[in-house]
Amino acid sequence: MATINENYLKLKAGYLFPEIARRVTTFTAANPDAPIIKLGIGDVTEPLPEACRTAMIAAVEDMGDRNRFKGYGPEQGYGWLREKIAATDFQARGCDIDADEIFISDGSKCDCGNILDIFGNDNTIAVTDPVYHVYVDTNVMAGHTGPANEDGKYEGLIYLPISAENDFTAEIPSDKVDLIYLCFPNNPTGAVATKAHLQAWVDYARQHGSIILFDAAYEAFITDPEIPHSIYEIEGARDCAIEFRSFSKNAGFTGTRCALTVVPKTLTVTASDGSTVDLHRLWNRRQSTKFNGVSYIVQRGAEAVYSPEGQAQTKALVSFYLENARIIREQLTAAGITVYGGVNAPYVWVKTPNGLSSWDFFDKLLNVCNVVGTPGSGFGAAGEGYFRISAFNSRDNVNVAMARITEKFG
Ligand code: MLT
Repeated sequence: MATINENYLKLKAGYLFPEIARRVTTFTAANPDAPIIKLGIGDVTEPLPEACRTAMIAAVEDMGDRNRFKGYGPEQGYGWLREKIAATDFQARGCDIDADEIFISDGSKCDCGNILDIFGNDNTIAVTDPVYHVYVDTNVMAGHTGPANEDGKYEGLIYLPISAENDFTAEIPSDKVDLIYLCFPNNPTGAVATKAHLQAWVDYARQHGSIILFDAAYEAFITDPEIPHSIYEIEGARDCAIEFRSFSKNAGFTGTRCALTVVPKTLTVTASDGSTVDLHRLWNRRQSTKFNGVSYIVQRGAEAVYSPEGQAQTKALVSFYLENARIIREQLTAAGITVYGGVNAPYVWVKTPNGLSSWDFFDKLLNVCNVVGTPGSGFGAAGEGYFRISAFNSRDNVNVAMARITEKFG
C-alpha cells in the first residue's frame, strides 16, 4: 500500500492565497455584480516591458529557424543572461559575484522551497513572525517541524518576532540557529534593512557557521540609496549567504516565470565526516538532476531587462507601483489608519482599524468595500491585527479602492 508524506497533514489549512481566492469566489457567487478590486496577492497587472516582448518575439523566431533553434539549454541558465545579471545587479554594486555563481530558475518561491534539498534535516531554522509563509510551509513539508500549536506556530521552528517596536527587523538570536530566512524589502511588512542590521546578521552567521537564506525578490523597489539591494553588499556574506531574486515584480514576469539564485563558490558546510562541502556543487547537482532550465524564449526576455531600454522600462514599472504604494499609504494615513512600509516596497502593512482581527477586517473590506487584501495573521501569529495591501494594480483601481476604504473607515 502506498503511503504519503505525512508532514503535509501538519500544514495549517490551505495555502494563504488559495484560501483568500476561495472566500472571494464564494462572495462573488453570491454577489456576481460586486465590483471587486484585488489588492491581495502581489501579482502584477501592467503589461510586460516592450524590450522584453520584442526580445521574446525574436526568440520565438529563432525557434522557428533550424540554425538558431534551441533544445535543452544549460540547467544553470544561459551564460549571456548570467553574465549580464552578474555585471549589472551585483558587480556594479560592488558585490563580488561571478556569472557562474548565478543559477537561473522559474521562480524564487520555487527556489526558496527547493533549496532545502541540499540541507540536512537536523538544522535549527529561524524565521521572522510575520513571515512569507513559503519558508515555513516548505520546512513543514520537508519534515523539519513538529505540529502547529493553536497560534499556528510549528514546533521546532524558531520564530523571531518583528513589529513596529523593532522596525520590523528581528533581533539577532542569543542561541545558535543554522538556517536563517531573511526577506528584504520585507514581505509582508514592506520594511527594509540597513547595512548595519545585515552586517550584524552576517557576523552572527559567520560566527556560528549558519547560512542566511536571503530573499531579495523586491530589491528593485528600494528607493533609499543607503539601503543595500543585495546581501553581498555586506562584508563576509559570500561565506554565509544564498540570495534569491526574481524578475516577477520588477519586470512583470509573474506569469512569464524567471528568477535567479546566487550560491557563491566560497559557501561551505562541514559534513558529518568532517569534510568541507561546497554548497554551489550541491545546488548545481540538484538543479541538473531535477530541473531542465528556463525556456530560451523567457531567458531572452529576461536578458532584455538589462538593455538600456529594458532598464528604463522596468524602472518606470517599479515607479508606477511605488506611486500606487504612496497613494495607499497617504490615503489611509489621512483617514487615521496606521500604516507601515510602502516606501521601499510594494506592500503597505496596515494596522487594522477599530481593533478588528485580520480576518474580520478582510471580511469587512470584501463585503462592504469589495476590496481584497491579505490578512496579516496569514503571515504568522504576530501578524494578527494587521493587514497587507499590495500596490500591484492599475492606478484607477487603487484610487477607487482607497476612496471606498477611507469612506467606510475614515
Ligand atoms: C505575495 O503576494 O506574497 C507574493 O505574490 C507571493 C509570491 O511572490 O509568491
